[in-house]
Amino acid sequence: MNTIGLIQIGLILSCTTIISSLQCNHLPLQQRKVIENSLRLLDKMGKKFPQQCLREKMSFKFPTQVLQPRQKGTVGVAIEEIFQHIFYIFSKNLTLAAWDGTALDEFQNGLYLQIEQLEACVIKKHTHYRRSKEASRLKLKKYFQKIDSFLKYKQHDLCSWEISRAEMRRCLQLIDKVTRKLKN
Ligand SMILES: *[C@@H]1O[C@H](CO)[C@@H](O)[C@H](O)[C@H]1NC(C)=O
Repeated sequence: MNTIGLIQIGLILSCTTIISSLQCNHLPLQQRKVIENSLRLLDKMGKKFPQQCLREKMSFKFPTQVLQPRQKGTVGVAIEEIFQHIFYIFSKNLTLAAWDGTALDEFQNGLYLQIEQLEACVIKKHTHYRRSKEASRLKLKKYFQKIDSFLKYKQHDLCSWEISRAEMRRCLQLIDKVTRKLKN
C-alpha cells in the first residue's frame, strides 16, 4: 500500500476516535432521551393496566442502592446493566402480551443502540470501579431474575407481561430521576 493510502486510513481512524469521544461527552443527555423515549414507547405498546391482573401483582423490589454509589461512573455502569436486562426480558415470548409490534421493536432498538454506545464509552473509562460494580451487578441480576422467573412461572401470560411492563416503567422512571440529579 502506498503512503497516501496509509495517510487516508490514519485520517479515517482519527476522525472515528474524535466522533466517538464527542458522542461519549453527550452520553448523559442521550441517555435521558433514550429513557424518555423508552417510557413513551412502553405506554404506546400496550393499553392501560388490566383490572383483572391487579390481584396477581408482585413486588420485585428494585435495588435502589445501585443508583446511589459514591462515584458517578458506577451509576453509568449500573444503567447499562439495567438496559441489557430490560432488553433481555423483552426478548422473551411476547405472543400472549399482544402488544403493538412497531412500538416494541422501536423500544428494543433504542435500548440496543444505547447499550452499544454505553459499552464503548463507560466501560473503558471506569474499569477501576470494579468492586462496587460487581456488587451492583449481583443485585441487579437477582432483581431481574425474579422478574424472569415470574414470567416463566406464569408461562408468559398476559398478566405476567402487563405486571412486568409496569415494573420496567417504574424502573426507568427511577433511572430518569437519578440521571436528572447527577447532571446538577
Ligand atoms: C410463545 O407462546 C405461545 C403461546 O403460549 C406459543 O403458542 C408459542 O409456541 C410460543 N413460541 C415460542 C417460540 O416459544
